[in-house]
Amino acid sequence: VTVRSSLIDPDGGALVDLVAAPERRAALRAEAEALPRVRLAPVDVEWAHVLAEGWASPLRGFMREHEYLQSLHFNCIRLPDGAGVVNMSLPIVLAIGDREKEEIGASPDVALQGPDGGILAILRRVEIYPHNKEERIARTWGTTAPGLPYVDEAIASAGNWLIGGDLEVLEPIKYNDGLDHYRLSPQQLRNEFDKRGADAVFAFQLRNPVHNGHALLMNDTRRRLLEMGFKNPILLLHPLGGFTKADDVPLPVRMEQHSKVLEDGVLDPETTIVSIFPSPMHYAGPTEVQWHAKARINAGANFYIVGRDPAGMGHPTEKRDLYNPDHGKKVLSMAPGLEKLNILPFKVAAYDTVAKKMAFFEPSRSKDFLFISGTKMRAFAKSGENPPDGFMCPGGWKVLVDYYNSLQTE
Ligand code: ADX
Repeated sequence: VTVRSSLIDPDGGALVDLVAAPERRAALRAEAEALPRVRLAPVDVEWAHVLAEGWASPLRGFMREHEYLQSLHFNCIRLPDGAGVVNMSLPIVLAIGDREKEEIGASPDVALQGPDGGILAILRRVEIYPHNKEERIARTWGTTAPGLPYVDEAIASAGNWLIGGDLEVLEPIKYNDGLDHYRLSPQQLRNEFDKRGADAVFAFQLRNPVHNGHALLMNDTRRRLLEMGFKNPILLLHPLGGFTKADDVPLPVRMEQHSKVLEDGVLDPETTIVSIFPSPMHYAGPTEVQWHAKARINAGANFYIVGRDPAGMGHPTEKRDLYNPDHGKKVLSMAPGLEKLNILPFKVAAYDTVAKKMAFFEPSRSKDFLFISGTKMRAFAKSGENPPDGFMCPGGWKVLVDYYNSLQTE
């Protein structure tokens, strides 16, 4: 008996899967031996992973120029035969240098090597086009200010050409960091939601440790969904696992912190799935949050939580936020191609010093509220001082204190 899933349809109708069947691997390896090669940087591998598992469905490989232009200028890609658009706000591209371009010459196919030299994939029917970095950066981030993370690490030193094509990955991409079991593909997540009998799936994207303000958003969403009549809403707690900036808390520490949050009962393990989203982070605010939401449609989420300044950060050279903190949720609620996703916008949460817990900020009594930024949190952890009671569960806080202490002794 086939159980028909009631989960939201993936973008383009069918989930893309670009991992070769095991019986094809030997032939693909032999074929790759004879092809020109491109060496991937670690972030390129992360994007290959994202593409291979269908997070960017219906995209079937690194973008060719027509896809790149649509993404860059419309934040969307047209479906064939006038079937509308899907959202695609970040260019998923692969850069190469002059020498590689020359070596590829007129070869239609190229082998992609991992950072250690092993063959990871074949890119077929390739197209090579100019990588105008300034234009890409300006359109994606809305600024070319110096010091943007991802730009500095992954674009500045990248080649002056982009190569697009159809991707075929030889085998599932693994990191062997002890966390691969958390890296469920969109199909595996869909299977899990079906197994649990979910009648609604609500996703929470994050790249920071979970404090009780985040938990408030997630628990309040569950309450709202039950009120709407859903019987079994399942939370996808979905930390981003790819590239993050140097002063963000590293993934292994965050995963341990998230485990404590479930152990301490801040979130209910019965109705929560914790998994890693393999995408790199751009810190491109309202542009990037569309990608964060779109990818979760493909994983089966039909509700998406968004709060203050998603995918945002401080301006790299000025003393202000890079993006208006409300624009992320406003843009998401209006974004073309995301109509079928229910956006759940939230007000900013802060520590209420009267109620002694994290609560939604009330401007009328603003003096009662304490904003605990990442910087302030680090300062607490470094000095050994505890944050106010009710900011974060004790088990989760201890994980952070240990992490920051380990940094100081280095
Ligand atoms: S993000 O880069 O992944 O968006 P982060 O991990 O800080 O950053 O945030 C995860 C989600 O929680 C985002 O939707 C963000 O808007 C929301 N969020 C973070 N802090 C707060 C807060 N104090 N109040 C309301 N929402 C918040």
